[in-house]
Amino acid sequence: MDKNFYITTPIYYPSAKPHMGHAYSSIVSDFFARLKKIQGYDVFFLTGTDEHGQKIQRAAESKGKDPIKFCDEISKTFKDLCETLNLSNNDFIRTTEDRHKKSVENLWNILVNKKEIYLSKYSGWYSVSDEAFYADDEIEEVNGLKICKVSGSKVEWVEEESYFFKLSKWQSSLLKFYEDNPEFILPETRKNEVISFVKRGLKDLSISRKSFSWGIKVPNNDDHVIYVWLDALTNYLSALNYPNVNDNLYKKFWPATVHIIGKDILRFHAIYWPAFLLAADIEPPKRVYGHGWILSGDEKMSKSKGNILDPIEIIEKYGLDPLRYYLLKEVSFGNDGNISNEKLENCINSDLANNYGNLCQRVISFCEKNIGLKVPDIDKFNKDDMEILNNFKVNFENLKKQIDKQNINFYLNFIVDQLFKANKYFNDQEPWKKKTDKKRLNTIVYVALEIIRKISILLYPIIPESSLKALHIFDISEKDIDFETILDNNFLNKGDKINKIEILFNKIT
Ligand code: ME8
Ligand code: MG
Repeated sequence: MDKNFYITTPIYYPSAKPHMGHAYSSIVSDFFARLKKIQGYDVFFLTGTDEHGQKIQRAAESKGKDPIKFCDEISKTFKDLCETLNLSNNDFIRTTEDRHKKSVENLWNILVNKKEIYLSKYSGWYSVSDEAFYADDEIEEVNGLKICKVSGSKVEWVEEESYFFKLSKWQSSLLKFYEDNPEFILPETRKNEVISFVKRGLKDLSISRKSFSWGIKVPNNDDHVIYVWLDALTNYLSALNYPNVNDNLYKKFWPATVHIIGKDILRFHAIYWPAFLLAADIEPPKRVYGHGWILSGDEKMSKSKGNILDPIEIIEKYGLDPLRYYLLKEVSFGNDGNISNEKLENCINSDLANNYGNLCQRVISFCEKNIGLKVPDIDKFNKDDMEILNNFKVNFENLKKQIDKQNINFYLNFIVDQLFKANKYFNDQEPWKKKTDKKRLNTIVYVALEIIRKISILLYPIIPESSLKALHIFDISEKDIDFETILDNNFLNKGDKINKIEILFNKIT
């Protein structure tokens, strides 16, 4: 079985510093990267910055800066954010790097050799903010301004010589590809949008620009730079040392398991990207997951709307793990979601402090007072014990199946349910009333410890730092975490030392 897992975030435009929307995609991707790692997969997790094109050139000009200096500065804030978010990324790619330029030029040359590219003239609408060409029927006029109906961003009229990719030719191959790979685009609703767009007919795609210079030059024609999306999408190959197809990284990790993106850039990933790859005779990625938006009020949070929330401010106030937990649990994955201080505080108090933190605290301190800081010897498990322990077993196969469909909501609901049941178990069993029945008391504590261990493993991809603190109770360190061991009801060994645990989450009052 293929135990390699390649996951990517979008590479973000360093036109301004990162905001909560970027943090969201990155945290979601990190969740899957960590989860697959503890499932024993070899994981490659890529993120980075998308530095060419007119949007960046104009942003640099507006600050009076040289584009590369400008990119160096802002790209660094995205790279620093990886640390701040505790991402487990293996690489951080910048499209201004030589390794990437080589890879894009190579892909271009293949497309030229395969006669997939021709020179002509583009005239039509272009949005610099989206770096996208739009057809007439995608444009509307609002207050005398032409904007794209879907993204709401301003468009300008462009007329210039341009190279074109024969996208129209790939229409039926794409439809067949979607049919043969029914889970290529998730969630399902997004897939339907894409398929109906393709069915309405694809026009050839302009893939070079002539009116500005900030980009990778078209091989053999210095007057043109390669369209920033053809450039950007290729990053997913560049990081695996493409065009060296004999390189281990490439052999192991291509095709990518899943590109995590926002729904704003679905067309590029689900239509253009597989079309370029099919045309170049390279296998397309296995999946593109288009998640929803973090909203600010009712609107998409975005730099251009100026309604952004700074993840660093939230982290300074509440801590990283609460933010990670909130985004993964409270934003229904696939749909749009909101973030507010009030909802975040509720989440910290109820789920993290009351349910998880408190469970760890009360079980360990009960253990310390009544048994001593060691794993107790057990009697036989009774029906209640078996029921709560086996919850994990009963749901295990389904849990894994849902993970592989990026069903974060299922995973989080499962955990919340187990946390609730664990606290209820400890309350109902009333070990404090069993002081004369030492065997039963020991068994209850043992079961509670096992459950803390299992839940902490499940929580690791969500709140790695806090989960590791809890797993330290059992001297389990990051490299030892094995997802399969949540099936084991007798993992802990009698007499093994138990470590005390500091308070994991402070309640906000
Ligand atoms: O589109 N809610 O870069 P970008 C959720 N460079 N996610 C959001 C978000 C929000 N409000 N705002 C941004 C680009 N994102 C290209 C990508 S990939 C080859 C090139 C996230 O800086 C989400 O993943 O505009 C979205 O797709 C991405 O950031 C867009 O980032
Ligand atoms: Mg954008």
